[in-house]
Amino acid sequence: MESATVGVVGAGQMGHGIAHVMLRAGHKVLLLDTTRALVETGANRIIKGLARDVEKARLTNDQHRQAIDRLTTTTAPADLAAAEFIIEAVTERFEVKSVVFQALEPHCRPETIFASNTSSISITRLAAATARPAKFVGLHFFNPVPVMKLVEVVPGLQTTPQTVEKATALAASAGKTPVHVNDFPGFVSNRVLMPMINEAAFCLMEGVADAAGIDNVMKLGMNHPMGPLELADLIGLDVCRDIMLVLYESFRDSKYRPCPLLEKMVAAGWLGQKTGRGFYAHPRK
Ligand code: CAA
Repeated sequence: MESATVGVVGAGQMGHGIAHVMLRAGHKVLLLDTTRALVETGANRIIKGLARDVEKARLTNDQHRQAIDRLTTTTAPADLAAAEFIIEAVTERFEVKSVVFQALEPHCRPETIFASNTSSISITRLAAATARPAKFVGLHFFNPVPVMKLVEVVPGLQTTPQTVEKATALAASAGKTPVHVNDFPGFVSNRVLMPMINEAAFCLMEGVADAAGIDNVMKLGMNHPMGPLELADLIGLDVCRDIMLVLYESFRDSKYRPCPLLEKMVAAGWLGQKTGRGFYAHPRK
């Protein structure tokens, strides 16, 4: 596809990664967050990631400079008016995401496609909270975004095939493999992954094995690149707990209840890599 202008909302772990791969693919990126500090932290991480791409010969020096020139940072939703796509990657709460889309709506062109990187919230429900449900789609990237190949492309009930087609082309242009998944809680990825992580937390709580033992079983026995508890630390224990709650409340099935140990660790602020402590200690570098 031709170079597009992509608005990325949220400069955190997922947002800065999405912006990075969009720039690397030749798109213009308008990166929005609520404060200058947040947006600049995100931009610095993107610039560091692009420098790594040069080291690894994924980009030439010229491409690197051009990619940085294509990045604009802002804290004003009106500055995203030129975007053909908006990809939202803010806090995983319906109320937060819907307010973001409502703030952008008056500034964006009617043909602009709105995409959410939600990992479990209903696309149909998010879409219905905007004035453009036909042009609303889920684009679910994976952490670390520059490395992971998958994007789940999730149409809501009112999403048109044209919207799905354009969003799929955007994901593919960024070197990702889009997989179409229908709008059900947790889609496919988190419907399968999160119960595994949650069950690993139950195994730890019940003393079936220690954290390293549980992770080794899955790494050495199932060839997973990371054990489920290590992965929970990468994703964030709060995110894992919140996704289990979405599954539990959506299906009303007790098999999705969050493990009490997971709940307790979240209550303690042990959220994984981002707070320095989760199932493992992550000393600050
Ligand atoms: N951020 C950015 N890049 C990272 C990274 C991170 N946190 N961790 C590793 N990388 C990069 C490295 O820089 C390296 O890239 P280069 O080509 O530039 O060298 C590359 O990944 C490979 O890294 P390593 O060789 O150091 O390490 P590895 O081979 O052990 O791979 C891994 C690291 C890619 C993270 C691998 O362990 C893995 O695939 N783990 C599973 C990750 C996973 O399951 N992610 C999905 C989480 S679920 C989700 O995101 C969705 C949701 O809704 C919750």
